[in-house]
Amino acid sequence: MKSIVHILRRSHFIMALVLLGLGTVLGTLRAQNQPPKDQPIQEPPPLYLDTNQPIDKRVEDLLGRMTLEEKLSQIHGNSMFTTPAIPRLGVPVRWLTDGPQGVREDVGPFDWRTAGHTDDYATYMPALCSLASTWNLDLATAFGNVLGQESRKRGKDIILGPIADITRTPLCGRVYEYFGEDPFLNARMSVNYIRGVQTNDVAACIKHFAGNNQELGRSTVNMDMDERTLREIYLPPFEAAIKEAGVWTVMGAYTKFRGEHCAYSDYLINKILKGELGFQGLVMSDWGGTYTTREAVLGGLDLEMGTLIPGTEKELPYDEYYLANPFLEGIRKGDYPVSLLDDKVRCNLRVMFGTHVFDQRKPGSINTPTNQATALRVAEESIVLLKNQDNLLPLNASQIQSLAVIGENATRHHATGLFGAGVKTMHEITPLDGIVQRAGTNLNITYSAGYRSRGGSNLIERAVAAAKQADVAIVVAGFNHSRNLDDEGWDRTNLHLPFGQGELIRQVIKANPRTVVVLISGPAIEMDPWLGKAPAVLQAGYPGMEGGTAIARVLFGDVNPSGKLTCTYPKQLMDSPAHALDTYPGTNGTLFYKEGLLVGYRWYDAKDIEPEFPFGFGLSYTTFEYSNLKLVPGQDTNGPVVTAEFEIANTGARAGAEVAELYIHQDHPSLPRPLKELKGFKKISLKPGEKKTVSIPLDQRAFAFYDPAKSGWVSETGDFKILVGSSSRDIRLQDSFRLAQTTIEK
Ligand code: BGC
Repeated sequence: MKSIVHILRRSHFIMALVLLGLGTVLGTLRAQNQPPKDQPIQEPPPLYLDTNQPIDKRVEDLLGRMTLEEKLSQIHGNSMFTTPAIPRLGVPVRWLTDGPQGVREDVGPFDWRTAGHTDDYATYMPALCSLASTWNLDLATAFGNVLGQESRKRGKDIILGPIADITRTPLCGRVYEYFGEDPFLNARMSVNYIRGVQTNDVAACIKHFAGNNQELGRSTVNMDMDERTLREIYLPPFEAAIKEAGVWTVMGAYTKFRGEHCAYSDYLINKILKGELGFQGLVMSDWGGTYTTREAVLGGLDLEMGTLIPGTEKELPYDEYYLANPFLEGIRKGDYPVSLLDDKVRCNLRVMFGTHVFDQRKPGSINTPTNQATALRVAEESIVLLKNQDNLLPLNASQIQSLAVIGENATRHHATGLFGAGVKTMHEITPLDGIVQRAGTNLNITYSAGYRSRGGSNLIERAVAAAKQADVAIVVAGFNHSRNLDDEGWDRTNLHLPFGQGELIRQVIKANPRTVVVLISGPAIEMDPWLGKAPAVLQAGYPGMEGGTAIARVLFGDVNPSGKLTCTYPKQLMDSPAHALDTYPGTNGTLFYKEGLLVGYRWYDAKDIEPEFPFGFGLSYTTFEYSNLKLVPGQDTNGPVVTAEFEIANTGARAGAEVAELYIHQDHPSLPRPLKELKGFKKISLKPGEKKTVSIPLDQRAFAFYDPAKSGWVSETGDFKILVGSSSRDIRLQDSFRLAQTTIEK
């Protein structure tokens, strides 16, 4: 123990020296830009410090000044989340940090234990499943902006988010961190999130490229999927992130793809990512996701992080990383040309220059009221109203005297205790806190746990007694980020509510038919057999530090719910594709993606299976009417091929927001296609009685499928249906469109 403390102290001391040295060098280098008036101009500042030079020139200049050892130091970690400084050149220590829902607390340099810092608090945002269920792209930008600002303020250079893995099975332990089952929605969310992060001189990291659709066996499982499925389902968010948002970093998945580790798969990284998609930034491994030198060197990996001693959970000494001494020895022996090392360093330096590491950087800010307000806004818009029989919701505070709030999740904090996604938050408003604050002193509120994740007796009886006495009962149920219940490294074992919560809900409803169920969880949950009896159900995701306030504001009608599901909720797990085809968790180490393109709603449509709740579903306290669909052909060759224009009116008595979803269907494709594919959406706010025109443009690619025989995206001349609706199963308007030309985009 003593020696660990000693090492930690020593490492901090060394870090301080490095920073001090760096400060002096940078100071000197900057000072060289402005020579004192009375002295002759000495050496000109190095080109790489000249902000007027293009990035590639600066990269080449700096690269040319680096020794072999200095280059090597930049392509692997020298602590859990850093690469080292090169003081003589003014290259600073580079800090990476998790994660997708807030800047993670600092961990020690050599393991996952907390660093014990007191200045590493951050805004705990809602989880990405919640962000996606807002279907609000401005909020995705604002969300990314919070992470970017806070990373900067905490001195971080790269934040490890967003996650763009597709929700293939609802059992996956990280579904709460994912944007859901649809590639288009994933792509749109990723692009805006990344833009938000990167405007702050911080690099985003889209992960995990590509696959990682389950936690069970994630570091060994080999994905076997056809080319078209890869291109149409799993790659689009990464492609959009690179081409539209200019994402600076990509993390390789733990999983294997066609036998190669994803982080250095020649096919995925060299051919597709860096070749076809033209990615210029750096590819990093997931932590502990590098296993050999040769493949990592040749397979396009640029930054190795978190490597473990094989067969253990212990960190490998940093000099022994596969891209450290073993690579150096290989270069010295002539096994690898130095140009391979240079390429990797180039990618790393490009990210540094791209995020202004050597220039004047944005200072950032953290834990600000504005950032917390963004957390609240996202939470409010993310909550999905699944059921509202007889308009039980919103609650009218003047008509009720008492509330029974039931469930461990009503008082449980979810920010910490997670693996990579945990955040040290200044506060976390629980649902009970939020309800008590909103209700004020006029309502009599009783809290009863009803169940305990650690067990307890007579809890249901007490909850039932409380529910009986109250005008309305609110059961806050769900999962809790513990093992098998929405946590990294473990999949769920089934979709039922754990700890007897199903029975609790049933009994509470029996005692008080005016019961609202609020679910805290990633998607999806099996709700049979209690759903039929529950009059009102809200899916609240993991709503972040202001979540309790958001839930209360929805319950009492201060906020009209406008979230929509990003995943299909099956009636039973076996209805969902990976399980119906018995392809989970893989056979003899291989995961056959037998469902191919039929992920999520594409499967339910093709097989005509009635889901419990369809993709894109969500109710409101008001009603919306869709009308007047017009398909306006594009005039300009660079513009949209066609624009769908239609009207939405708020026909109820409350202001609200509706997400209009646009799907396409091709009538007679030359290759089989899903019956519906999401290709556009818009969220529109409307006052009571108000009507607005909505326009959703569709470009050529919106009509295309990937044809492996042609190695390209083919949009075929022929008839398409444009379907506009309130969910994937509630199409309100449709019209036909004839695509005039066949095109192939390589
Ligand atoms: C996760 C990554 C995370 C990394 C660093 C891994 O276990 O898969 O998403 O960024 O750890 O914490």
